[in-house]
Amino acid sequence: MAESSPLRRAVLIGTGAYLPETIVTNDDLAQKIDTSDAWITERTGIRQRHFAAPYETAAYMGAQAARAALQAAGVAADEVGAIIVGTSTPDQAFPSTAVHIQAAISATKAFGFDLAAACSGFIYGLSVADAMIRAGQVDKVLVIGSEVYSRILNFEDRGTCVLFGDGAGAVLLQAREVAADGPGLLSTHLHADGTQAGILYVDGAVGRRDMPGHLVMNGREVFRHAVTLLSSAVSEALAANGLASDAIDWLVPHQANRRIIDGVGKKLGLPPERVVVTVDRHANTSAASIPLALHEAVADGRIRPGQLVLLEALGGGLTWGSALLRL
Ligand code: UT7
Repeated sequence: MAESSPLRRAVLIGTGAYLPETIVTNDDLAQKIDTSDAWITERTGIRQRHFAAPYETAAYMGAQAARAALQAAGVAADEVGAIIVGTSTPDQAFPSTAVHIQAAISATKAFGFDLAAACSGFIYGLSVADAMIRAGQVDKVLVIGSEVYSRILNFEDRGTCVLFGDGAGAVLLQAREVAADGPGLLSTHLHADGTQAGILYVDGAVGRRDMPGHLVMNGREVFRHAVTLLSSAVSEALAANGLASDAIDWLVPHQANRRIIDGVGKKLGLPPERVVVTVDRHANTSAASIPLALHEAVADGRIRPGQLVLLEALGGGLTWGSALLRL
């Protein structure tokens, strides 16, 4: 049989992360609001989160994570062609967080933009970067998730303010010609259902100054949708690639709730030691949660070259989706 011709794929060549210096434990929160470490831990698996200082904005943290990803890849900033930032908490309505990061890291040849898909922002960003790379538009793309949810939390609402944290993660993707079984993004699948916008949203923005701009969530409803939709997203990714679930080496899920993470892991038949979990230490960092978790497991050597990694997320919109990649 003739050898198949090489494919142009987006290959992950570096990861980076940044977490704010200040750690807030469940007990710290319990001193200010009517909650307890036991309630938060039992329902979510969260034990602590990082909260940003005023200088630790989405742009600042995103730039720190981007620098780390470039360093890990051994790539100079002026080689980057595009910067995509998944964020719901940008420094400004415009210019985008992406151009602030471009300036901070001196990525002088890159264009950049922000992408609003709430907790699915990183998966959406990967999908857009993948398409741009496959189309030959760019060769190196930084995909970043950077969020400061502490700025949009309503600390009068104990049902939401205990769930979120701040941070940033970044990956550097590079176009490469690879064999079919070689590294790179194999597939991304994106979904949205705007009829469910009312179960997880921020009540305000610069276009609606008549509202306070706080995160609002019907946790039960989101939980119910999360388990069903993420299970089907995982099945969709496997079917599209003709893979059985035992082919997956690692699940790196969006880190919203330990119970949802365990549910999807179980659906895949993956033992817990092959699911990357950071929700206990980071809480839900929205678009930053997957690149933060991915970075941790790549940096500590758990995820190794050649392994197959499935990413999935669901968030406000609703938006949800998956990405399958080989390291
Ligand atoms: O990234 C976006 C995706 N987001 C998610 O995936 C979140 C999905 N949802 C969840 O993770 C869960 O729904 C929560 C963890 C948010 C909540 O768990 P739950 O089991 O659905 O609790 P609940 O909201 O139904 O509240 C149960 C009880 C209520 O008390 P009563 O009415 O039963 O007396 C709440 O008032 O827990 C109470 N409660 C709290 N108690 C102590 C709510 N928040 C707290 C709190 N501390 N922080």
